[in-house]
Amino acid sequence: MTSNPGGTWPHAPGYYTGDRPKIVTSRFEYEDSYTLQRYEATDGYKGLRAALSKPAADVHEEVKNATVLGRGGAGFPAGNKWGLTPQGVWPRYLVVNGDESEPGTYKDRLLMERDPHQLIEGCLIACYAAGLSRCFLYIRGEMALAQERVAAALNEAYAAGYVGKNILGSKFSVDIVLHWGAGAYVVGEETALIESLEGNRGMPRLKPPYFPAAIGLYGQPTIVNNVETLANLPWLARNGAAAYTAIGTATSPGTRMVAVSGHVKRPGVYEIINGLTTFRDLLYGEEFCQGIRNDNELKAFVPGGGSAPWFTEDQLDVAFEGPQAGAAGSMLGSGAVMVMDSTTDIPRAALTLTRFYAHESCGKCTPCREGGTWLERILSRVVDGKGTDADLDQLLEVGQSICPGEFPHASNAKLGISAVPFPYRMNTICFVGPSAYAPVHSALTLFRSEFEARVTKRNLIPVTAVSQ
Ligand SMILES: Cc1cc2nc3c(=O)[nH]c(=O)nc-3n(C[C@H](O)[C@H](O)[C@H](O)COP(=O)(O)O)c2cc1C
Ligand code: SF4
Repeated sequence: MTSNPGGTWPHAPGYYTGDRPKIVTSRFEYEDSYTLQRYEATDGYKGLRAALSKPAADVHEEVKNATVLGRGGAGFPAGNKWGLTPQGVWPRYLVVNGDESEPGTYKDRLLMERDPHQLIEGCLIACYAAGLSRCFLYIRGEMALAQERVAAALNEAYAAGYVGKNILGSKFSVDIVLHWGAGAYVVGEETALIESLEGNRGMPRLKPPYFPAAIGLYGQPTIVNNVETLANLPWLARNGAAAYTAIGTATSPGTRMVAVSGHVKRPGVYEIINGLTTFRDLLYGEEFCQGIRNDNELKAFVPGGGSAPWFTEDQLDVAFEGPQAGAAGSMLGSGAVMVMDSTTDIPRAALTLTRFYAHESCGKCTPCREGGTWLERILSRVVDGKGTDADLDQLLEVGQSICPGEFPHASNAKLGISAVPFPYRMNTICFVGPSAYAPVHSALTLFRSEFEARVTKRNLIPVTAVSQ
């Protein structure tokens, strides 16, 4: 079955289902998927009931056994993260990262708009399992429909006794607090998000010592989880870890949502099987993107959000599996794939991404604040046809001041060098600085001739001529 209810949703691109297992998007095809009525009619809050019937430690163990990988970018297993909070320190909090703003990423927004109760149920299960007494749900400033839907669902859930004191007659009580961001990309970084929640400017904190599980919101142990990560929990609580790990691979079980944009015939969000689906399946498969627009050639694609080093057709057979993508020189990141066909102006595409990161730098550290701006200015000059070949070397030099050493990239394999997987070395507090360099590095490494065709050769004046 293939359906496309996305056409009726003005704020969301098409969502397409196939016969694949659906863990987090099973309700997307209903027009009223965001209501409590629909949620309860489709197994809603059964996971919470199942969890509350067991000791919290057993539910935590189940999540650990399922290896639910974090879907916010780093892919850290949720069950393990919950175990990192120090013993005996109370209160401790859950912070839900709904700030989604990595270029190309729009899966969490769909989860919040179309199935807000699933997220709320996931938060409740996480709080119960990890002993968290209050949940703060942070939603990106621009996501008006998501804010509206989550707020309405939360009111319904409170009224029905799913949230608040003595949930479903148990001894478990938890409140969920909603918070709207103001639309800064860097606030998606967990410590910046915590700063923002506390009412400060959203700037990342230093790690160590500010690992949120140890010192987080208001100085208390805090678990920060992504929307999609938490949305997996109701299904997992209903069906168990064995059913979850039966989908996907041992290292990447379950499914994951992937948002595809750019030059494909059918862009949209797909729930794919983790670890098994390849980029070729996704871009060319009949149930997914159905090929490149106008049957053009594929030139390059960004495999994991704007921060990720680019892939070309040589990496089409890499599967959605973190270590595989890392070994090939990039990362799966936020689950956003951006596709560029043969007509793409590569230097301009790199500039578009670099400009975003340079603009979003919070300014806390110099290599990002200054380096990002330099990259953008030099690249603009090159794109406008006003650059020289010295500019191309300078782009790489500035990049080195942000991330010294070898930078990961796909063409390493071709050169016989083993790729440098993430995380790479960086001179910055967070990944925004390296993200400004990633598109420049990929574009220059993979398509240098396109830059060379844009610049003029330096006209060096011989030293002797100067001294005369
Ligand atoms: C610059 C930057 C932006 C980020 N943006 C997001 C985001 O929008 N959403 C998100 O869940 N994680 C984002 N992250 C990752 C978070 O810091 C954090 O790792 C994640 O929310 C943890 O959730 P998970 O373990 O469930 O993946 C970002 C990280 C960085 C460095
Ligand atoms: S890398 Fe950039 S965004 Fe991150 S803390 Fe430093 S200046 Fe701020």
